[in-house]
Amino acid sequence: MPAEGEQDLKKHGWESRGASASALREAMAHFPTGVAIVTTGSGEEAEGMTANAVISVSLDPPLFLVSVHKEARLNQRVKEEGYYAVNLLAADQEGLSRLFASPERSSGLQAIHSLNGGYGKTGAPLAAGALAAIECELEATYPGGDHDLFLGRVVAVQAGDTRKAPLVFHEGSYPTLKSPPHGGDSGAFVDSVRGFDARIGRITDRRRR
Ligand SMILES: Cc1cc2nc3c(=O)[nH]c(=O)nc-3n(C[C@H](O)[C@H](O)[C@H](O)COP(=O)(O)O)c2cc1C
Repeated sequence: MPAEGEQDLKKHGWESRGASASALREAMAHFPTGVAIVTTGSGEEAEGMTANAVISVSLDPPLFLVSVHKEARLNQRVKEEGYYAVNLLAADQEGLSRLFASPERSSGLQAIHSLNGGYGKTGAPLAAGALAAIECELEATYPGGDHDLFLGRVVAVQAGDTRKAPLVFHEGSYPTLKSPPHGGDSGAFVDSVRGFDARIGRITDRRRR
């Protein structure tokens, strides 16, 4: 298939922005994510950092991935400790997210005090009030440009208060999730070749088990 020229892209409503860091950042700002605090270490050696580049990679075996900037304090600490916990934040934890995304925050005991959720099976600090904490032992580290990708084997999942709504990050802020209005059309996708009309009102778990 030939690459579309600038004019063709324009015709289809696209505005080409090149491949700069700002173009990528601006595009991804439109993609809402959950928010987590990734932690490792204990006592004076404890470290935590707000992250949304977290992925559940595999269920069998259970594998998880976090992407951590090479210069972030957490990066070296995860390599040294060999484990981490991914604390999935609830809607009422915006303050904690902001704190652990601040370069001025404290490490060590002060971080433990802010997290206030004890230690998990791996020894990683947990965030009280989080929806869940996924604990991993570091299995492999892959280079990812200015980040490192930490692939972890999930060794424990701590369920927190799962009745709470999740904290969401979108366009640089933390919007409140609103339920869609009742009775409205939830959207359809029509495949003109096969002639079906897929309603997408209810999201089902399509992952293989
Ligand atoms: C919502 C949100 C998500 C973030 N996700 C990541 C991430 O996935 N990986 C990362 O390295 N930094 C991420 N950051 C940035 C770090 O939290 C922030 O730069 C932190 O200060 C880095 O740690 P340092 O102060 O030790 O350098 C995120 C920040 C916010 C607000």
